[in-house]
Amino acid sequence: MADKRIDTEDGQAYTWEEISSHYKGTYSKKDVAAYWDSLKPAKTKGKGKGKSKAEPKAKAKAKAKAEPKAKAKAKVKKNPQPAKSFKVCVCGGSGGIGQPLSLLMAQDSNVSELAIFDLSVAMVPPQGVAADLNHIERKASVKGYVMEVGKNPIDYLEECLTGCSLVLVPAGMPRKPGMTRDDLFKVNADIAKGIVEACAKFCPDAILALIVNPVNSIVPAMAKLYEKKGLDPMKIVGVTTLDCVRANKFVGEITGKNPAFVKVPVVGGHAGVTILPLFSQDKVAKTIDADKIPDLDKHVQDAGTDVVNAKGGKGSATLSMAYAGARLGRSILRGLAGRRQVECAYVKSDVMEGLPFFTSKVVFGDKGVVKSLPIGDMNEHETKRMEECKAALKTEIETGLKYGEANSLAN
Ligand code: NAD
Ligand code: LMR
Repeated sequence: MADKRIDTEDGQAYTWEEISSHYKGTYSKKDVAAYWDSLKPAKTKGKGKGKSKAEPKAKAKAKAKAEPKAKAKAKVKKNPQPAKSFKVCVCGGSGGIGQPLSLLMAQDSNVSELAIFDLSVAMVPPQGVAADLNHIERKASVKGYVMEVGKNPIDYLEECLTGCSLVLVPAGMPRKPGMTRDDLFKVNADIAKGIVEACAKFCPDAILALIVNPVNSIVPAMAKLYEKKGLDPMKIVGVTTLDCVRANKFVGEITGKNPAFVKVPVVGGHAGVTILPLFSQDKVAKTIDADKIPDLDKHVQDAGTDVVNAKGGKGSATLSMAYAGARLGRSILRGLAGRRQVECAYVKSDVMEGLPFFTSKVVFGDKGVVKSLPIGDMNEHETKRMEECKAALKTEIETGLKYGEANSLAN
C-alpha cells in the first residue's frame, strides 16, 4: 500500500501523488517535496506499525533510488517560509459572514493583528467579537471598531485601517428570496464606497477583497474610484472563491472523489450565467459524462440562490462564504509573504476582449495581483456558455463603471 502522510492543513492522510497534485500550481515541486518530507507518516491499522516500517526493504530502497535529486535536496529545507506578521481588517466583521471569517483569519499564522469593524446596530458589537476571538490560542491580537449608522468610515477608521495589508469586506445587505444580486447594487455600492474611501486614505497599499454583492458591478465601481484617485485599481479584488469551492464539492459528490483534490476553475463573474465552471480543465471533473454537465453547471450557478431560499429570508451563504473568503485571504497573505499563489478572482483584467473586469486564475505575489492567467482551452459547451456569460457581464460591469464615473472618493 502507498505511503501516506498527514497533511497539517486538514489532518487527513494522503499519498505523495495526492499531495503533489493538490499543491501543483500553488507551490513549486521543490517546496511540495520539502513539505511532504516534513509531514508525519499516517499510522496503519493494527499494532501501531508505521507504514514505512511495514514497507519491504527492497521496495523502500527502490523508492529512494527513484527519487529525483532535486527532491532529495529540497528535503533539507524543512520550513522554507516562516510566518509573517500582517494586519488584516474585516469590515462587517460582526455579520453572518464577518464573524466566522474573522475566526478563520485569526487562525492564520500570517496574521498578527486583526481589526474587526462594524456598525453599532450590528448583531453583536464588534468589540465583543474581538474580545471573544482574543481568547483563542493564536498569535493574532484582535481589536473591535464600531461606528454609528449614517457616519462616514473615513472619519472613524484611522486606527482601524492604518497598517492593514488586507481588508476583507463582507459589509452590506444580503439577498432575500426573490431578489437578484443586482437588486443590492445601490445600497451596497454606497456602503462599499464609504469603506473604500477610508482605505484609500489610511491603507492605500492594502489589498481590498470585496465580498459584498453584486460583486460583478461593485468591483468595477470601486476600482474606477481608486483609479480616479490616482490609486492602483488592481488592489480591488472581487471574491468569487465560493464558486470554485462549490464546483469542487459538487464534482466530488458526483464522482465519489475527495473534493479536496478537485480544482475546477470558475471564470466570468459572480451571478447567474456569468458563473462559468470550466469542468473540462480539471482531471477529475473531465471524467464526468458530457450529458451530466449542463445540470452540474446550473447547480453551481444556482447554488447561492439555493442557500438564500433554504434560509427563508434570514440571509444568504455565510459559513461556506467565510470558508471561501478565508481561503482567498490566506492565499493573498501567503503571496504578500513572498510565496506566489494562484486563485480565481474577479479583477481588472485583459484576458477577455471587450470585458475590462473578469474572473480567471490570478497570481498573487508580494504586491498583490501579479497577473491574470489566460482562460485556457474550453470545450463546446463551455465555449457556448462563454458567449452567454460575456453578454450578461458586460451590462453589469457598465453599471459599476457608471457609478465610479458619477462619484468620487473624499480626501
Ligand atoms: P449580514 O447582514 O449578516 O452582515 C453584514 C454586516 O455588514 C452586518 O454586521 C452589518 O452591520 C455590516 N454593515 C452594514 N453596513 C456597514 C457599514 N457601512 N460599515 C460596516 N459594516 C456595515 O450579511 P452577510 O450574510 O454577512 O453578507 C454580507 C454581504 O456578502 C452581502 O452583500 C452578501 O450578498 C455578500 N455575499 C457575497 C458572497 C460572494 O461569494 N462574494 C457570498 C455570500 C454573501
Ligand atoms: C452566494 O453566491 O452565495 C452569494 O453571492 C450570496 C447570494 O446572494 O447568493
